[in-house]
Amino acid sequence: MSTPSSSIESTLVENRVFEPSEATRKAARISGMEAYNALCAEAEKDFEGFWAQRARETLTWSKPFTKVLDESNKPFYKWFEDGELNASFNCLDRHMGTPVENKTAIIFEADGGEVTKVTYKELLAKVSQFANALKARGVKKGDRVVIYMPMTIEGVVAMQACARIGATHSVVFGGFSAKALQERIQDAGAVAVITANYQLRGGKELPLKSIVDEGIAMGGCDTIKDVIVFQRTATACNMVAGRDSFMHDVMASQSTVCPAEMVSAEHPLFVLYTSGSTGKPKGVQHSTGGYLLWANLTMNWTFDLKDSDIFWCTADIGWITGHTYVAYGPLAAGATQIVFEGVPTYPNAGRFWQMIEKHKCTIFYTAPTAIRSLIKAAEGDEKVHPKNWDLTSLRLMGSVGEPINPEAWMWYYKHVGGERCPIVDTFWQTETGGHMITPLPGATPLVPGSCTLPLPGITAAIVDETGNDVANGAGGILVVKKPWPSMIRTIWGDPERFKKSYFPEELKGYYLAGDGAVRSADRGYFRITGRIDDVLNVSGHRMGTMEIESALVGKTDLVAEAAVVGRPDDLTGEAIVAFVVLKRSRPTGDEAKAIAKELRDWVGKEIGPIAKPKDIRFGDNLPKTRSGKIMRRLLRSIAKGEAITQDTSTLENPAILDQLAENN
Ligand code: WT7
Repeated sequence: MSTPSSSIESTLVENRVFEPSEATRKAARISGMEAYNALCAEAEKDFEGFWAQRARETLTWSKPFTKVLDESNKPFYKWFEDGELNASFNCLDRHMGTPVENKTAIIFEADGGEVTKVTYKELLAKVSQFANALKARGVKKGDRVVIYMPMTIEGVVAMQACARIGATHSVVFGGFSAKALQERIQDAGAVAVITANYQLRGGKELPLKSIVDEGIAMGGCDTIKDVIVFQRTATACNMVAGRDSFMHDVMASQSTVCPAEMVSAEHPLFVLYTSGSTGKPKGVQHSTGGYLLWANLTMNWTFDLKDSDIFWCTADIGWITGHTYVAYGPLAAGATQIVFEGVPTYPNAGRFWQMIEKHKCTIFYTAPTAIRSLIKAAEGDEKVHPKNWDLTSLRLMGSVGEPINPEAWMWYYKHVGGERCPIVDTFWQTETGGHMITPLPGATPLVPGSCTLPLPGITAAIVDETGNDVANGAGGILVVKKPWPSMIRTIWGDPERFKKSYFPEELKGYYLAGDGAVRSADRGYFRITGRIDDVLNVSGHRMGTMEIESALVGKTDLVAEAAVVGRPDDLTGEAIVAFVVLKRSRPTGDEAKAIAKELRDWVGKEIGPIAKPKDIRFGDNLPKTRSGKIMRRLLRSIAKGEAITQDTSTLENPAILDQLAENN
């Protein structure tokens, strides 16, 4: 990479541009902007032919598809539907008999630092054995299986084993509560839960199995016939006779050979729940063929994967990033990857840098929130600054989950990448299955804070409320005009909500991402300006404000009304602020503090610790219009500590604003 052409420090006008180095460009699959433009032109000229060719080259099909895209029932698009394949076959079996067979698939580093490695051949044997165990317990093609596991090889094995037998997995992040787990089990109608007795994070042993027990005991989970427990630690856990069994026990008697069940390309590989703008999380349903095509293709396009790479994506398998860039993409592409159980700050905030050095990581993919917290740690303590480790193995770095501020980008570029490694700022979503707008390391000139340009074939655009294109420089609504292979297929069990949420009538049938964006006047580069719906992004995790509100008002003995908004936060991107009206008089002082704590703990139990409001304000009422509508934009200003400049003349009760602005 060359030196910056300008060094103006500003988050609004960003003039620094980093061109790919000659060497990076020459070695890349997509080499230079001409190559990128040529691919875009090819996709535009023959859209279906472009994807058909990629699908044939990238995946192994047991039955070739004859039709590429079926638009007859849009927006329920179907891709490669009459083709058949298996995702696990494409991640594992396909490499047998090739040099990848004996290559390390996973370098697992435990919370405590112990390292375990498995080759592709060994991983195939484990996955097959566990797939046979699932079949023996009656799990079959089309069944849903909930996975509530820590970041371990076994977590990946569980996902791959489901895929192998055609069962649809639904992974629930290990930080979600019993209640959240119960809701997902119910909504998915799952037949089994795969979990672990405990998980290890930051030196602590945290329960998983007891949370599963608690969730199932809440009721409505009668579909569950089996709970399979991976024994992560020596600590005993409660086992329910006739329902629960240990992973090692059910595997012991099984063969390490299990033919993969071939399924239609449209067969649901997984359902992953994510927050939307209503109280109820949405089960985002993904396909097998289009999804896996994307997982593999973007490993090659965005990460420009080489055979010698040591790839590390730090995301948990409980999120989409951990699905596409841990459980499927790296394996489909035959990469060696690092899987890390722990947290970036244990035993100290140098853990990531230490692990990059130790495992000679070449591609590092993490979230801005992690980078920002490690900057803060390094600034406070020289000993955890990345300069203390040899990070010269790195050749490429990535960012995902939220906008990366140019200052954090520059620090990452300089202190982690040694001003040598391109940064791919990848914009995408649970619904998109994989990268959508991102630089290509051997082609795209980088601008800090910008995810730059859409991948070839991705028709991303910025439009106004009626779906008309806006000019570069003017902000608007981010849409994708044409379907793409790895797009969400539906919301599990709620096709109407799928249509309404993602393909609103006024937007000409375009896919609505839910983000605002602006393209730069000079290069047409995209910059994401944040969600335009009632969704917050806290440390790269998506949280619905309504979801938190319904948790709060669910505390019926105490809470009368609640409104939740986001506030910009230097560390977590956004922070959750809750305005609460109690059923009793408005508390102040220590009493307010005690009730705020009680409510935070309550939300932690209802949803999970990530949903706990950072700030809770109490009022006698909420700012409402005369028709009773809560004026959220006023609450957003109060949360930020801004003076109210908006028109408050329609407000029923203007005096309430001063009360809510008081920080108790
Ligand atoms: C939302 C999707 C993508 C997987 C992890 C999050 C925000 C994501 C970026 C980026 C700016 C980003 C958007 C998006 N987002 N990546 N590179 N720059 N914003 O997946 O939980 O489905 O959240 O994350 O707001 O809509 P998710």
